[in-house]
Amino acid sequence: MTQHQSQIPAGVVNIADYERLAAERPTPSAWAYISGGAGDEITLRWNREAFERLQILPRILSGTTGIDTTLQLLGRSFAHPILVAPVAYQRLAHPDGERGTAAAAAAQDAGFVLSSLSTDTLESVAAVGDGRRWLQLYLLPDRAETLDLVRRAEAAGYEALVVTVDAPVNGVRDRERRAGFALPEGVRAANIEHYASPHMSFDPARSLDHFMSLAPTWADIDWLAGNTRLPILLKGILSPDDAELSVRHGAAGVIVSNHGGRTLDTLPATIEALPAVADRIAGRVPVLMDGGIRRGTDVLKALASGATAVLVGRPVVYGLAVAGPLGAAHVLRLLRDEFAIAMALTGCANLDAVTDSLLIRR
Ligand code: FNR
Ligand code: LAC
Repeated sequence: MTQHQSQIPAGVVNIADYERLAAERPTPSAWAYISGGAGDEITLRWNREAFERLQILPRILSGTTGIDTTLQLLGRSFAHPILVAPVAYQRLAHPDGERGTAAAAAAQDAGFVLSSLSTDTLESVAAVGDGRRWLQLYLLPDRAETLDLVRRAEAAGYEALVVTVDAPVNGVRDRERRAGFALPEGVRAANIEHYASPHMSFDPARSLDHFMSLAPTWADIDWLAGNTRLPILLKGILSPDDAELSVRHGAAGVIVSNHGGRTLDTLPATIEALPAVADRIAGRVPVLMDGGIRRGTDVLKALASGATAVLVGRPVVYGLAVAGPLGAAHVLRLLRDEFAIAMALTGCANLDAVTDSLLIRR
């Protein structure tokens, strides 16, 4: 159970294989934290079911030769549209932690978003490889401390800030509570543990009023935008009206997300919320999405539904848990390859060709 492997087990060919094996690796309570969702885990399930319901209508004999998965995002080029989502406390999965997944992302040319609640410092992660890195931020109640994090991100070469706006408090996570999850010895929020700001997670002693009195507002987004040269993406957008407000408040991008089903149960599946957000944004800024991506066909469906790129959360951590950085890299490789094959089999030569006409919605 606590043995940490660094080899890809025989017979692993997809992300479901990784998930099955990963369930045996961390402690049961860490597994409950990583894999679980809020409430009855209905949104967690819908994220998958909604992808499964969407059918693909391919075009044939298109004469497509090369398959080009490259894209431009925030003025930089990316080899493919699959990024690593911010996931807190990755040393729960493997001692290599976020440095391990950052190395995996660099090896697979994947954009990497570091959680502000990482167990490796943002500076130590920045020193790994030469990939594209963004920092996810929870706005801290203390602006000076938030600004300190931002300055550190700028100094360490992070290229964007992903501000998570859907979790002013943790969701009600039954599985986690039943398992009695608490951070084990040696697993700490390395970036912010020395700040005075109360950390939003794992503090049931604090009242809801307390959290909400500290919760960020649009004014804080304005303040942040006025205090950094980095582009800001807002993560956790489901409503087209909030997407509109995001652009008006200076966001350089939005991320359609329900936090992997971990905040409020019965939020819609992200693949179903995506089209209305993409319509409202109408190309003004990139629209990313996450939640339930487990197959290359899911990436295709997200892009066909209006996403510029996608992020994957749990699968990368499953890879890390099973085989360290090699496993995390393998997960990204599998997704990339499956996505390229899905493009080939639908007659898409490049990402511009991945449009809504490829989908049948029932
Ligand atoms: C998350 N997620 C998350 N998001 C965020 O903005 N900051 C964070 O610190 C975390 N932490 C975190 C921990 C764990 C264990 C999970 C599983 C998720 C949410 C994450 O960025 C992403 O939105 C979802 O994980 C996407 O869904 P999938 O790919 O896991 O289905
Ligand atoms: C979570 C918080 C840390 O989803 O974002 O666990």
